[in-house]
Amino acid sequence: MPDVMRLSFLGTGYLGATYAACFAELGYEVLGYDVDDAKIAKLAAGRAPFHEPGLDDLLRRNLAAGRLRFTTSLTEVAGFADVHFICVGTPQRPDGMSADLTYVENVVTALAPLLTRRALIVGKSTVPVGTAAWVEQLVAKHADPALGVEVAWSPEFLQEGYAVEDVLRPNRIVAGVRSEWARVRLHAAHKGVFDLAATEDRDVPVVVTDFATAELVKVAANAFLATKISFINAMAEVCEVAGGDVTLLARAIGYDPRIGHRFLQAGLGFGGGCLPKDIRAFQARAQELGAGEALRFLHEVDLINARRRGRALTLAAELLNRPVGPAGPDLSGARIAVLGATFKPHSDDVRDAPSLAVAAALANAGAHVHVYDPEGMPNARAAQPALAYEESLVAAVTDVSLVVVATEWAEFRNADPVLLGELVAERRVIDGRNCLNPAQWAQAGWTYRGMGRPPV
Ligand code: UGA
Repeated sequence: MPDVMRLSFLGTGYLGATYAACFAELGYEVLGYDVDDAKIAKLAAGRAPFHEPGLDDLLRRNLAAGRLRFTTSLTEVAGFADVHFICVGTPQRPDGMSADLTYVENVVTALAPLLTRRALIVGKSTVPVGTAAWVEQLVAKHADPALGVEVAWSPEFLQEGYAVEDVLRPNRIVAGVRSEWARVRLHAAHKGVFDLAATEDRDVPVVVTDFATAELVKVAANAFLATKISFINAMAEVCEVAGGDVTLLARAIGYDPRIGHRFLQAGLGFGGGCLPKDIRAFQARAQELGAGEALRFLHEVDLINARRRGRALTLAAELLNRPVGPAGPDLSGARIAVLGATFKPHSDDVRDAPSLAVAAALANAGAHVHVYDPEGMPNARAAQPALAYEESLVAAVTDVSLVVVATEWAEFRNADPVLLGELVAERRVIDGRNCLNPAQWAQAGWTYRGMGRPPV
């Protein structure tokens, strides 16, 4: 093995591109691989194909230093790296529940026969439990048995918008391994992470597990986070009929350190490329394994989440004094601004974004919807081409009778309700993320409705 460990990251989407740049920054020699020429060309030019704060700087710096390269050649990857990280996507199948492992299978079966020396293949993608053992079988079938290639599973927990920080300074590393050799090599592949922590007087806990536990840790963590969000959104539903304020309720329960304040933000619910897909794939896998009942509550978590999007629609009808028929509200002709198109701030990702779903539902109900987002416009336009997009907050709200804040970007949180009040036709606002100050907006003459809060 050369002095500086050589790592490959297979699949340069969100996960692989961020890992590749961060591990190069930590001093490793890194090769990123993807089948997509355009993506590789962009990354090789120092530009991430998605918005992630800090990533472009890391890409440029490490490309220039020669520690980071990108390729579409798996032969080059096989000859280069000591440890190969699988970072390909595991999208939802058309059944709307289970995970599609085609990309995992393709990359493993293509790489394995090309390997010429002992290597560790580490799974990072989010997968159904049982995948690591299956990957091990694929490797046994396709790699030269004399090489002793091994498999490990080490899930990732990075959050979009904070991905660079989450990779450089993880709060834990899970090492699903079957041998001491694999454990030692996986540890060596993370030495840069441990060294950085040591210089900052931090500790990075390592949890060494079997394959199944490592795979389950990831989906269990996302299931827990989704459940926490749906729990507080369920409380929002109760607050709405009982006259309570869910933001105060969350504050009060969160002071109990057993509960904590994070992920108790009630609003339009969770979206994105991970939580919704992962809780469904987890249920599908549990069902296959005969433990469907254990995860039945996740179906409820999903339903609560979906109801919040519907609530935004009925709130709009209420505020605009429009009838709600059996087919839903009639919002014909109403001009509505939807502020936010991404699934959360600091990201340009619109996958399963509650904001965009609400915008589309308002448009379906007959409204003229004007969408603005600081980072997500190109992706939003591609995902929902029928909606009207505006280039600024001012353009979006001008002459509307209702403003819906659907993603809590700082630009919206800090917007001046007095100034906005002069632009709109009617001062009505739905705070879909409970991120505005109701008293301040009311004082500026707005009719304010939050999610799970009393009307102001
Ligand atoms: C999530 C997990 O947080 C990561 O740990 C995990 O690694 C990642 O999925 C993944 O599986 O790759 P991410 O999808 O980036 O990360 O987004 P989150 O920050 O978890 O937010 C998810 C959604 O929940 C967003 O739509 C957000 O607006 C919503 N949310 C979050 C709430 O509605 N309320 C909250 O209190 C928190």
